[in-house]
Amino acid sequence: MAGTKVDERLTHIAFIMDGNGRWAKKRGMPREYGHSVGAKTFERVIRYCGDIGIRAVTVYAFSTENWKRPETEVRAIMKIFGEYLNVARKKADENSVHVVFLGDKRIFPADVQEKMTALENETAHNPLLLNIAVNYGGRDEIVHAVNTLIAEGKTEITEDDITANLYTAHCPPPDLIVRTGAERRLSNFLLWQSAYAELYFCDTLWPDMGEDDINAAVEDFYSRKRRYGGI
Ligand code: IPE
Ligand code: IPE
Ligand code: MG
Repeated sequence: MAGTKVDERLTHIAFIMDGNGRWAKKRGMPREYGHSVGAKTFERVIRYCGDIGIRAVTVYAFSTENWKRPETEVRAIMKIFGEYLNVARKKADENSVHVVFLGDKRIFPADVQEKMTALENETAHNPLLLNIAVNYGGRDEIVHAVNTLIAEGKTEITEDDITANLYTAHCPPPDLIVRTGAERRLSNFLLWQSAYAELYFCDTLWPDMGEDDINAAVEDFYSRKRRYGGI
């Protein structure tokens, strides 16, 4: 399978982009350096996913819990995010991606929120969906969905109601979730949507994530038998 195109069994890959800080520390550099190299890796990975025929990519960029980090690190990550927003329109068109942000935007300053919404609208014509999870938490997302339903006056809800009110209402759930950085947990990522996702963990630190690692994850995915509770 390595390097070949994917088919309809694998339309959506999600990445937990972990290991930036350790990557930098190993080089005697500040953690922030790992985040800027990680941002370049993100561009490369998106391009490669498009090349192999993936239709939707979701990346976990910043969690609702990541605000706990030292202020200097949070500020550095937000600076990288701001820089990305300034060039994102051009990059999105180059890579044919429709950018959608997952998470509660209200935490960001008004001008940042406006840039995020504009980018979502202005890239909507592009065929490859790129969900970027920022200020995203899986629990927060479910609570937000339920509160939306309550506000609509619902007193009893279905699974479909929740699915339709998640930040990912516009796309199918991920077929494959890849986490770099050697930790084997979801860290509050896509809790609802991951119910039947295949999980793949690798030791590669995110800035080193490359085509070989993606090929290995894809190959592993194709070795799985997805039963969804059946036989
Ligand atoms: C992932 O890398 C990026 C974010 C969470 C923003 P980390 O910053 O978690 O890097 P490690 O896991 O500490 O190495
Ligand atoms: C998960 O990584 C969040 C992102 C990659 C954005 P963390 O580094 O925050 O996760 P934990 O703390 O190791 O669980
Ligand atoms: Mg981490």
